[in-house]
Amino acid sequence: MAFNLKGRSLLTLKDYSPEEIRFLLDLSHELKRQRRTGAVTQLFLGRTLALLFEKRSTRTRCAFETAFGEEGGHPVFLSSQDIQLGAKESIEDTARVLGRMFDAIQFRGFEQKMVEKLAEYSGVPVYNGLTDLYHPTQALADLMTVEEVFGTAKGRKVVFVGDGRNNVARSLLIICAKMGTDYTVVAPASLQPDKETLQLCGGYAEASGSSISVTDDIPKGVKDADVIYTDVWVSMGEEEKSKERLEMLKPYQVSEDMMALTGKRETIFMHCLPAVKGNEVSFEVIESAASRVWDEAENRKHTIKAVMLATI
Ligand code: CP
Ligand code: NVA
Repeated sequence: MAFNLKGRSLLTLKDYSPEEIRFLLDLSHELKRQRRTGAVTQLFLGRTLALLFEKRSTRTRCAFETAFGEEGGHPVFLSSQDIQLGAKESIEDTARVLGRMFDAIQFRGFEQKMVEKLAEYSGVPVYNGLTDLYHPTQALADLMTVEEVFGTAKGRKVVFVGDGRNNVARSLLIICAKMGTDYTVVAPASLQPDKETLQLCGGYAEASGSSISVTDDIPKGVKDADVIYTDVWVSMGEEEKSKERLEMLKPYQVSEDMMALTGKRETIFMHCLPAVKGNEVSFEVIESAASRVWDEAENRKHTIKAVMLATI
């Protein structure tokens, strides 16, 4: 079933129904197949996309730029070093100006409030390319990757190990709860998801028939996992917490021993990247046959293209 998502922003997956997410994932798989055939389509010919970055990026920037460019569109990279935003100009004024010149806007930065304001004032679709709170386009690529490996993500168990309250963990929690995937966070008490998000996602999980659990018990949490997922221990903007995090999360490194604790031979390893090998994941695990991180990175492009095609 096709959904009309024209004009919609993607600020957090909380705003998307399971049916809308399903539509975006189906389109992503289709776009990946199409790309493999070498077919040339120019669906964004004559269109423009503004890419605002307050934080660094490899995958997200390249996914947006190549996806838009492949379709004949013109992406414009605007780092916070270059534009007036944050120096002389407010987010509201920036949004109104960009909305007059671009067909869509991507924002990566610190505050969630910024993408919300961009969407409110620009009048064009705005995509959250990561804020301190959410990373919705990452979660779409993650679920697409799980579906490629297992056929479906429904009924599978995804276990996030490490900083369970960060942007990636939170967006993964939302998408799993909405799409019927069991989700477990294995993290020390101070790095577990907040009560409000857990409560909200509990409601989504009840509707989709999945379960959510949180524990600091590693063997109990990772048992039966189909996917072990981790992310950096120190997210962008939290650098002053490095020492404390390293000490706290040392026992949570995804190692070959931890992978064996799932009790399943087919368990895969996932990571949004960039990875700090030797911290959150051992070199052996990320380089092992169980690791799907490169497919996951590629899928950022197909899912981001799907989001843009559906909404522009
Ligand atoms: N996963 C991800 O968002 O990577 P980048 O920081 O390189 O964009
Ligand atoms: N949690 C990480 C994700 C990077 C893609 C960060 O925010 O730095």
